[in-house]
Amino acid sequence: DSPGVQVDVHVQPGDARRALRAEVLEGLCHGPKELSPKWLYDERGSQLFDDITRLPEYYPTRREREILRAHADDVARLSGADTLVELGSGTSEKTRLLLDAMDAAGQLKRFVPFDVSEAFLRKAAQGLAREYPRIAVHAVVGDFEQHLGRIPGGGRRLVAFLGGTIGNLKPAQRALFLRELASGLKPGDGLLLGTDLIKDRERLFAAYNDSAGVTADFNRNVLRVLNRELNADFDPEAFEHLAPFDETNKWIEMRLISRKAQSVWLKDLERRVEFAQGECLRTEVSCKFCREQVQAELSDAGLDLAAWWTDADGDFALSLAMK
Ligand code: AVJ
Repeated sequence: DSPGVQVDVHVQPGDARRALRAEVLEGLCHGPKELSPKWLYDERGSQLFDDITRLPEYYPTRREREILRAHADDVARLSGADTLVELGSGTSEKTRLLLDAMDAAGQLKRFVPFDVSEAFLRKAAQGLAREYPRIAVHAVVGDFEQHLGRIPGGGRRLVAFLGGTIGNLKPAQRALFLRELASGLKPGDGLLLGTDLIKDRERLFAAYNDSAGVTADFNRNVLRVLNRELNADFDPEAFEHLAPFDETNKWIEMRLISRKAQSVWLKDLERRVEFAQGECLRTEVSCKFCREQVQAELSDAGLDLAAWWTDADGDFALSLAMK
């Protein structure tokens, strides 16, 4: 590693496979079938997600970037932060908008990227350390549902959780996550949160059921992950992608629907999993919000909404909340 980069590792290489096995036993072997969306993101899945962000129908990434371009300096000023913590430090493009604004405000001291993938994180951390030689880069390899307590303290921190990824957590998990995150913050620390907003049903549907079939491919990729990691024999093409909007829960739900009655062998688990024709495996929920909901959830966690920005069409929102 280059000097100026510290990397704390709280996730060991075998952890993911162990967690996957436990989750598959829990999520596929009895009751309604469900897997956590985190398994969608192996190398191929991450690439496919990247392709999704460029689809004409998938507006969230573009909208959030628009908002950040317009308001990064407001974020820097209002937060007064000298440390940027980025959870799931995905695209360094959005990171740069924030770092540049904080730097221009003469505040920037430290960048703390937090991600579950060590290899990815080391690369990103080193790139940013080279680009911002005056700041300390302290990377943390961890799972944001387990290791929030490991985020280094000191200074005045702004935690950015962008992309709408918080929508992957169901309400109860989300409340836990926000409470845990807020409990680690000190007065004056802030949270910058990206949330997708409730909108026209057709546009919501199109964003998750694109005409080029990239999201379908992304969804089916989880079956390739299971084949590789558990020596399973899923035929991805024997499952249909569908991602409807659930009006009650206000979330998009990604499903893989079995095109026929079939059974799948999970060799490493010595288990057979049966699918009826039309049976559904849920692979992700992606919650959609309104301002009142976001504000109430932040407030329940002990955070005060300091600013709310949307794009001109009101598709996506960035919230700045302070402890
Ligand atoms: C990365 C979780 C924000 O929910 O919109 C994109 C993932 N799933 N298309 C989202 C996703 C299907 C995305 N997040």
